Amino acid sequence: MKNSKGIGTAFVVNTQQNIAASQGQSLLEALQSAKVEMDSSCGGHGTCGTCRVFINHESSQVPPMNEVEAEFWSERGRKIHERLSCQVEAPFDLEIELIKN
Ligand code: FES
Repeated sequence: MKNSKGIGTAFVVNTQQNIAASQGQSLLEALQSAKVEMDSSCGGHGTCGTCRVFINHESSQVPPMNEVEAEFWSERGRKIHERLSCQVEAPFDLEIELIKN
C-alpha cells in the first residue's frame, strides 16, 4: 500500500532492522542514519556502485529509477531487482538485501 506521507520505510533482511527516511531522503542516507554499514565511495553521486542493494520484488512501493541511476545501469549491466540505494528517494516502502562488495 502506498504511503501518502512522503516517508520511506525499509526492512533490511541482512540485519533484521526497520529503517525510516524523510521525504526526499535517499535509501542510502536512511541506512547510514540507522548505522547500517554501507559503502558509498562516490558520496552518493550514482557513479561507483558500492551502495547497491537488492529490492524484494514484493515490496509495496518501489520508486522508479531516475536518470542518473538509469545511465549507471545502462553502462554497467544490472542484475534483476538491483538498485543504487543512493538514488532511491523517499517515499518508498521496501524490503531490501544489502550487497557486500
Ligand atoms: S554511493 Fe556511489 S553509486 Fe551510490
